[in-house]
Amino acid sequence: MNITVIGTGYVGLVTGACFAEFGVHVTCVDKDEEKIAQLEAGSIPIYEPGLEEIVRRQKAAGRLSFTTDVRAGIQSSLVIFIAVPTPPQSDGSTDLSFVEQVGRTIGEHINGYKVVVTKSTVPVGTADRLRKIIGDSITQSGREQFHCSVASNPEFLREGSAVGDFMRPDRVVIGADDDEAVAILRDLYNPLYLIEVPFIVTNVATAELIKYASNAFLATKITFINEIANLCEAVSADVHLVARAMGLDGRISSKFLHAGPGYGGSCFPKDTASLAHFSRQMGVEQRVVTAVCEANEAQRDRMVDKIEGMVGDLDGATIGVLGLSFKPNTDDVRDSPAIEIVTRLQDRGARIRCFDPEAMDNAKAMLKDVEFCSDVYSAAEGCSALVLATEWNEFRMLDLPRIREALTEPVIVDLRNIYDPAEMRREGFRYSGVGR
Ligand SMILES: NC(=O)c1ccc[n+]([C@@H]2O[C@H](COP(=O)([O-])OP(=O)(O)OC[C@H]3O[C@@H](n4cnc5c(N)ncnc54)[C@H](O)[C@@H]3O)[C@@H](O)[C@H]2O)c1
Repeated sequence: MNITVIGTGYVGLVTGACFAEFGVHVTCVDKDEEKIAQLEAGSIPIYEPGLEEIVRRQKAAGRLSFTTDVRAGIQSSLVIFIAVPTPPQSDGSTDLSFVEQVGRTIGEHINGYKVVVTKSTVPVGTADRLRKIIGDSITQSGREQFHCSVASNPEFLREGSAVGDFMRPDRVVIGADDDEAVAILRDLYNPLYLIEVPFIVTNVATAELIKYASNAFLATKITFINEIANLCEAVSADVHLVARAMGLDGRISSKFLHAGPGYGGSCFPKDTASLAHFSRQMGVEQRVVTAVCEANEAQRDRMVDKIEGMVGDLDGATIGVLGLSFKPNTDDVRDSPAIEIVTRLQDRGARIRCFDPEAMDNAKAMLKDVEFCSDVYSAAEGCSALVLATEWNEFRMLDLPRIREALTEPVIVDLRNIYDPAEMRREGFRYSGVGR
């Protein structure tokens, strides 16, 4: 089977490369010429563990190709995945212009039956809207002899473990209103069916909503434990143990119960806001999700207050920040709590020295007047506090005497709770975690 993935970013590139591993012929299309040239030359534009080897192997095997020629991609394939951005707008709604543009282009070039699949996260009703856009475009281009199905196949991969998540997902969700599309998508995902990955096959609206409900629930879990952490600080309780005991209850589970600076990244903030927005448009208020969005915002302020509380006056202070990506094992800094905290510290007059193993190039485009350092110890040099903002593994085993030596004041603010408070005090630090 030939498939095309339009949009070769974090989701599209992983999707394309992994389907090629399944034995499918994949064309990855992107409008970004530089990105395609880089992929053609054999390197990948993002940091995602394990992905580069797969891309190289599948490209060499002739199953994976890259192009900016969207027409060729559309015409050569039976299944077309849309994996373009769906960014937030200021009112919380989703900007669907990228998806709609792809829909119009598909209608212009369609040359046979196609299954058009939204992998991008899109509000409920988008597949129906896309079907109409493609239909209108088919009519305008005089291609009425051809038609397509529009299906929803939301993606649940996590950056940093995207390849494993795609190859062994907890479930595959297929939303389609016709049997032909379902049969084709089942066929495409057969390698996962064979390893007994659960398949949820449903209508498009349900599939679209599953993605938002899942992300909003995870965001709620994070926010819930953050608010409990804030209470722990007021009553001298330890959120680490509260979360551990809660997580041992099988009905709750231990995942996503780590207190910290609040959720970030390119998905949770925009997806929670979008769910609240489109639900409101349907006349159904999402009170929980709306409160989660507000509490998450407040958590970021609280982190800056916490740092200020440990340092005294931030005005003129130099602060070292470890980690800039929104989570470890990725170079993605979109809506990263670390970036936000850096800019809020700067707003209060602080100078920043920072280090991240993979995300500094991307961070340079977002941060001004920051000293990007070559390693952890250089970031700590001459600082009145060191802030652990992202829990990269290499930050878990720091040479603490060397850090103490580098700092002007022995202050560590551990926003990811990766160190033990008692041990840090024994090491001579004034230490603050979150909720312990
Ligand atoms: N990143 C994640 O972890 C993740 C997980 C699940 C779902 N999603 C969803 O997947 C979608 C894509 O996210 P992403 O993180 O991969 O985005 P991304 O920004 O990394 O990649 C999107 C790519 O689409 C390209 N593009 C935009 N318009 C195009 C067009 N008309 N033709 C061809 N290419 C075009 C861009 O150049 C870019 O390379 C979003 O809806 C997102 O919410 C993301």
